[in-house]
Amino acid sequence: SRPLTFLGIESSCDDTAAAVVRADGAQAQILSSVVDGQTALHAAFGGVVPEIAARAHAERLDLCVERALEEAGLGLRDLDGIAVTAGPGLIGGVLSGVMLAKGLAAGTGLPLVGVNHLAGHALTPRLTDGLAFPYLMLLVSGGHCQFLIARGAEEFSRLGGSIDDAPGEAFDKTAKLLGLPQPGGPSVEAEAATGDPRRFAFPRPMLDRPGCDMSFSGLKTALLRARDGLVAEKGGLTRADRADLCAGFQAAVVEVLAEKTRRALAVYAAEGAAEPALAVAGGVAANGPIRAALTRVAEAAGVRFLAPPLRLCTDNAAMIAWAGIERFRAGGRDGMELSARPRWPL
Ligand code: KG4
Ligand code: ZN
Repeated sequence: SRPLTFLGIESSCDDTAAAVVRADGAQAQILSSVVDGQTALHAAFGGVVPEIAARAHAERLDLCVERALEEAGLGLRDLDGIAVTAGPGLIGGVLSGVMLAKGLAAGTGLPLVGVNHLAGHALTPRLTDGLAFPYLMLLVSGGHCQFLIARGAEEFSRLGGSIDDAPGEAFDKTAKLLGLPQPGGPSVEAEAATGDPRRFAFPRPMLDRPGCDMSFSGLKTALLRARDGLVAEKGGLTRADRADLCAGFQAAVVEVLAEKTRRALAVYAAEGAAEPALAVAGGVAANGPIRAALTRVAEAAGVRFLAPPLRLCTDNAAMIAWAGIERFRAGGRDGMELSARPRWPL
């Protein structure tokens, strides 16, 4: 197949992003990847505020696309297609991206390819390492938590996932409860490094139930109770209390993710993949102890473990451009009726 160069556009959560990716067979090259994060805009609210996110995307998308093309040293006429996240996500942001992509496609006559944001994450190990199907993917971010078997560009089966909060959300809420800075993942991980994970006995939700489903919202309740217990007892938290709470919380998340990954790998084994692999994506994949646990679990199962570089694990548009190329190669494309979808299971 001929080389393809795609522009990717991402605006489904709190990162405004544009990227240019060139693919030649299984080889892919990221020519540019611009990510304009909104963490500072939402910091005061303890979470992403949809209205603020939508406005920021609308204001910044044009410039992001311009910068991505400029950094790639290309113009619109050098492209072979435009890929855009069409869902799932916060609808205001997704709409901004889809409208811009439609405008660019209409103005240039380039093919338009709507991409599922989750497929973008799930296909990233093919962009970075040319990973062969079928592989097992654990997607763990602030908004998502699921096991997928990836069999093709548009062929995924979901083995299970969180029935409530995503792990990143649990990290963020833990940080909020303990007065640590957002995003909570890195700050809780840093505190946990000096803490005693055995001081507080936090639950391991759903480990006693079969299957790959998980739950993380109970953990937050347990943490709240432990914190309030300490405050009632001695009027506040010491640095060591905070570290121990973080360590206990993180140890519970690690154990649940590791055991559920073991089970997902057992299901995946039936695929009989020639080169079996477990890949992770999502911001939580940045967590050292979580990565280490998954590495051990994969090793024990005789499966390759793969974690893309962090800037490609978190939200970005290179993964969208790449997923667009994969979909386009498989014959997928969209017309001006492409709609933005707040919900869109893989
Ligand atoms: O993939 P991502 O950038 O955005 C989406 O949610 O789509 O993931 C962000 C999430 C946040 O909840 C953040 O707290 C979490 O990933 N995170 C971490 C770490 N770094 C980021 N969680 C645990 N440990 C980390 N080191
Ligand atoms: Zn994401």
